[in-house]
Parts: sequence; structure tokens; C-alpha cells
Amino acid sequence: QYRRPLLVPPVMPKAGRRHDACARFDYYEIAVRQFEQQVLPPELGLSPTKVWGYGSIHHPETFSYPAFTIEARYRRPVRVKWINELKDPATGRFLPHLLPVDPTLHWANPPGGVEGRDSRPTFPGDCPPGPYPGPVPIVTHLHGMAGVAQESDGYPEAWFLPAASDIPEGYAETGTFYDYYQGTSPLGDLWERGAAVFEYPNDQRAATLWYHDHTLGITRLNVYAGPAGFYLLRGGPGDLPPGVLPGSAPPPGHNHGCGPYEIPIVIQDRSFNDDGSLFYPKTRGLPPELANLYVPNGPFPPIWVPEFFGEVIVVNGRPWPYLEVEQRRYRFRILNGSDSRFLILKMDDGRSFWQIGSDSGFLPRPVERATLLLAPAERADVIVDFSDARAGTEIILLNRGPDVPFNGGAQPPADPATTGQVMQFRVVRATGRDTSTPPSRLRLPRFEPLGDEDAVRRVSLNELSLASAPEAGPLAVVLGTFSPPGSNTPKALFWDDPITENPAPGSTEIWEIYNFTMDAHPIHIHEVLFQVVERQPFATPPLPQPPPRPPEAGEEGFKDTVVALPLEITRIKAKFEKPGRFVWHCHILEHEDNEMMRPYQIGHPPP
Ligand code: C2O
Ligand code: CU
Repeated sequence: QYRRPLLVPPVMPKAGRRHDACARFDYYEIAVRQFEQQVLPPELGLSPTKVWGYGSIHHPETFSYPAFTIEARYRRPVRVKWINELKDPATGRFLPHLLPVDPTLHWANPPGGVEGRDSRPTFPGDCPPGPYPGPVPIVTHLHGMAGVAQESDGYPEAWFLPAASDIPEGYAETGTFYDYYQGTSPLGDLWERGAAVFEYPNDQRAATLWYHDHTLGITRLNVYAGPAGFYLLRGGPGDLPPGVLPGSAPPPGHNHGCGPYEIPIVIQDRSFNDDGSLFYPKTRGLPPELANLYVPNGPFPPIWVPEFFGEVIVVNGRPWPYLEVEQRRYRFRILNGSDSRFLILKMDDGRSFWQIGSDSGFLPRPVERATLLLAPAERADVIVDFSDARAGTEIILLNRGPDVPFNGGAQPPADPATTGQVMQFRVVRATGRDTSTPPSRLRLPRFEPLGDEDAVRRVSLNELSLASAPEAGPLAVVLGTFSPPGSNTPKALFWDDPITENPAPGSTEIWEIYNFTMDAHPIHIHEVLFQVVERQPFATPPLPQPPPRPPEAGEEGFKDTVVALPLEITRIKAKFEKPGRFVWHCHILEHEDNEMMRPYQIGHPPP
């Protein structure tokens, strides 16, 4: 711990100058590749780790885990050609997956060929023994971008394979989403083998977004292998002028665009094998007395684990790094990029965080907080003031998660020696005067709440387990609706069931998320930004009982991911605008990959 400095991801370079001057958008060409990176400390004799990551194809040195940061400007669209280069550069042949794939889940399944596309093979009968040999599908989602056209959202079935030399005849090279919208896409002619071009409008408040893989049924594995990065949207009326916040006016010569006092931090948990390679479980590990449930075509997905918790806290791609901080204020954009782990962050000297923003931009006003709860995919934009700390002081950012209401028992408590620590701040003398505004006096951009709702919609979170062996854990956690509408009976639904949520374009809806499970789930809705309205416990049958609670501190702005606590109704409000097919899902990636994701459609579903 605390051996190597924190790395700050540099800015992702654009693809070629010709696009700068007259184009109406910023253009990037970004691939996913496999490479080795020294994640673990080399002085301990630990080898580099084979990872996947994004990078600009014009600058080989930009391939890194996590990815370089995309800097975007308000109302200037960004267009990205996303390229799947998970193939051997020497032979052009596709690569196997780095991690054990469970082909019995709903998934991308390219070996199914055109007919069998997106079908589920039985296990082990239809799938080759051993690790999944490839080709590996990918598709990128820009998490937090609102108002994007459906074909640019990274729909889980909009995956595509690498343009490898050895893809057999008859393989489906793309997911079924392309059949669905074929002919209706303005980007229709921008697709080619092994690549897809997506465009992001950037027509929303300045915010901390992130991009990551979203392939059906293997998102947990693809993201665990590395592909994720920050996307910082700046400018417009939802931002503050330069100089108000720490770091927004970088001195010349500083090559990362956010300035030395504004630092994005992605926190992830990982486990490693002795040889430095990434470890991810390859069985459910049921105890022997339940092992007979664990048979070919049995009810339990044989490889899928309901949650994954790693032993090592990795921050911006390095375990437990340190950061030298001057005696002044810093702005940290913190992202929980873990598969399943909820974080409760706290400074070990009691220093507070001034939270100024969350998932989707600034809060109405700054809030001083002693702890920050961040579920997977949630972000916090905070100011930390080190000006009163003595030079030489070492401060540790702790993780106190989980707390009882937030985990329902699934998440082991953080180990104070390992997962209970995140990174270290080493205070050094200030090099200049801090001219940023003290957070207590900060006036954040005007916040316009959403108007009245046109409709209230009830949805549910349900756990499916085997009545005869509930102790074996869930078969799956799924989303559902109330059926018939107006009744108190939740109906569990799967990914392939017909669409039940189809808000009208231009309508504002309240979604009441009834969590019938014993765990907290971070629920993410694509395409919209929402306000957290309130939470209310319920008893079964779902009769609202105690009075509702207002949103927690730090939830007063717009968000895209919300923690739904067990046995509570979480009410959120969103305005749905652009017609199209999108998804909503749990951001515990293990849940998302095993049916805790549903399509929804703004406007009428196509015939
Ligand atoms: Cu961060 Cu649907 O994803
Ligand atoms: Cu979940």
C-alpha cells in the first residue's frame, strides 16, 4: 500500500486535426485492445497484468487501464468510432476472453451463428469445454449521456465482433439490435466490420460521465478486464466559470486537461492470481450438499456468481496509491467503478468532503459531508480542503462500507487492513495562493427541477430462488412490473419478455421502484437524468406504511443511478424525450448480466 503515486488519466487525443476546425463535432477513433500493464508494484516482483483497455488508434501509447479521459464541451457533439481490436496484432486472429464466461446466461453468444444468435446454449453440452475461446463481442455505453439516439447508446445487443481473420462463416458478427433499427439510423452508413460510430449530443448540464463496455451477459467480465474511462462534459449554463473551482484553470505545460487541482478518481476492487493475472471466480462454489443442483441444464448458472468482491482496492489502475497534495483545496471527481462493491468513503482525520455534484452535474447547493456512500456507477464531485493540514501529514481515505441498510448481507464488511483503505494523501507546502472560492461560499449554477408528472409507473426488483434450496442463493435477481396495472402483484420479467415500460415522448413520469429483495441495488436508467423524489418503506403486501423520506444529502441534483434499499419504494422522476429503445438495469454488474436488466421504449414499440 501507498508505494506508487496516483496516476491521473491524461486527455484522450482526437483523431486528426482535419476534424478540429470546421467539423461540427469532435471526432475520435478509439479501440479496445489487450495489453500488459504494471498494475501491481514491480518492486515486489509482481508481473505486469494482462488487461483490456481503450486507446486512440493513432497513439499506441494511449492504451491504458483505466482509459484516458474524453474532454467534451457543452453542445459540441462528440463522435467516436469504437473499434473492437480484441485480436492478435501479428496474426489477426481473435483473442479468447481473459475471464471465465458463463454461456448459460443470456448473452451475446456469437458462436450461435445467425440462426442461434442470442440464444442460450445448454451447459456444458453446446459450449466448448474450458475458457471461452472468443471471438469476444464488445459495445460501448457512455454512462450518463442523456438524449442520445438509440443507435448510439451502446444497447447490450448492439455488440460487434473484432474484424478478425478467423471468424468462421455463418457467425453473427453483430447483435440483433442492428436488425431492429436497420434503415432508420442517420448513421446507417457509418457502420463497418469490427467498428461502430456513435454520436453524443452533449446537450445537458456539465457532469462527470464515464464510458464502459455494455455487452449482453458479459459486461461484468469485459469491464473487469479494464475497458472504462472518464468523460468530462464542461461548459454551458450548468457549469461554473473557470477559476471558481480548484483546478479549472490549468497552468501552461500541464498536459492533463483538468489542471493539477482537479483530479478524477475511479475506485475499483480487483483480485489477482500469484502470477499477477486478474482473478475472477469460475464457479458458483456451492457447498457439497447443494452441488447436486449444479448440473448440466440445472437451474443454477454454473459459473455466474451473484456478486463479486475483490481483495485489492485499485484506484486509477494502481492498488492503494498515494497523492501529494498541497495545502489548498482540491476538486475530486470520484467514481465507484466496482462490479458489486458499495463504498462508504471517509477521511481518517475526520476531514469533510464538500459535495458539489453527483452523477449528472452540480447539486443545487454544496453540502458538507463526513462520509460518501457510492454504489457501483455513482459519482460524487467533491472539494476537499487541505489548507489547514500540516506539511508532512499523511491522510488516508478509508472505505467503511458496507453499512447495514446498504448491503442486506451480501457484501462482506470491508477489511480495515485492505478493502477498508483506498488511497493516501501526503500533504506538502502550497506552491501558490489558492484563489478558488471556499465551498461554504460557493454559489452553484441554477438548478431547474422537473415539472409535474404526467404519469406514475410502478416497477419492481425481485429475487428468484429455488423453493427447495433457498440457501443456495439466487438463481437470478430480476426486474418486474405490476400486473395487471394497478394491482399489488409484482410480475418478474426477463430480458426477452415484451416491453412493458413505454413512456410517451415529452412526458414526465414518476417511477416507483419497489425493492422486494433483501439487498440494495443501484438502479440506472439510460437516456434520461432523474431527480430522486423520496423513499418509503413498505410491508408486504405493498401497502405504503411509514411516511416517505426526502432524498439523502448529495442526491438533490440530477442523477442517473439511484440506490434502491431493500423493502422500500424509491421514487424517481424523469422526463423522457427522444423516441427509441433503451435499457434500465441494476448496476451491480453480476446482476445486470443475469437478467436484472430490461429494455424500455420511449414512444410506441415498433410493429
Ligand atoms: Cu454504466 Cu447501463 O451502464
Ligand atoms: Cu442488483
